[in-house]
Amino acid sequence: ARTAVVIPAAGRGVRLGPGAPKALRALNGTPMLIHAVRAMAASRAVSLVVVVAPPDGAPEVKSMLDAHALPERTDFLVVPGGESRQESVKLGLDALPPDFDIVLVHDAARPLVPVDTVDAVIEAVRDGAPAVVPALPLADTVKEVEPARTPGAPEPVVATPDRARLRAVQTPQGFDRATLVRAHETVTDDVTDDASMVEQLGPTVVVVPGHEEAFKVTRPLDLVLAEAVLARRRL
Ligand code: CTP
Ligand code: MG
Repeated sequence: ARTAVVIPAAGRGVRLGPGAPKALRALNGTPMLIHAVRAMAASRAVSLVVVVAPPDGAPEVKSMLDAHALPERTDFLVVPGGESRQESVKLGLDALPPDFDIVLVHDAARPLVPVDTVDAVIEAVRDGAPAVVPALPLADTVKEVEPARTPGAPEPVVATPDRARLRAVQTPQGFDRATLVRAHETVTDDVTDDASMVEQLGPTVVVVPGHEEAFKVTRPLDLVLAEAVLARRRL
């Protein structure tokens, strides 16, 4: 069973503030996307990485990848992305050669995920799970609210789900390829991760332990944390 990774990297990074597309911004001198590609290529099971670039940034991303060494065993492809993450992942899947039957989807915005997490996800798919997500218990209590019509107005609380049963989900998420392709062909609702499309389709999605360092770089403070983690690793 050969394994490929699709890396959606086509987002603008609006919440990070003005600047280059998020995946192309540097963390300690190296583009976030390069850190993310290396994190996937660190797994001996991964033989292809498909990078989904900003719609007009594919040539730039291609030369960026050419300029940074990857392990001999790892090939890469670059395709232009779309308007939504979902669309970008679909464009990555469309570019996958036939001989891969396990597919991981990994956010470029999670550049620091340790290889043990990647391997745990692949292992669970190899063991027969059609869809696998790494996840962590929550530190915060979560409330469901009735969203305010006016931004900033107080919002009534509707419910407090039992925190012990909740998990914060990360990437890479791993899939039996046919299952993920079917999910992307069938589900048309807006979703925020790939596993939720499989949930809608029917097959059971399972959770394996995630890792603190697989956090998503979303807001400016996350850049501070990411650079501190890299400094601790001396990268
Ligand atoms: N992504 C993508 N194509 C899009 C939107 C997002 O490939 N049209 C990717 C991002 O590049 C990122 C991942 O999906 O690696 C997770 O998305 P997110 O963290 O929301 O990144 P952005 O959409 O870039 O950030 P923001 O929502 O703040 O604009
Ligand atoms: Mg986004």
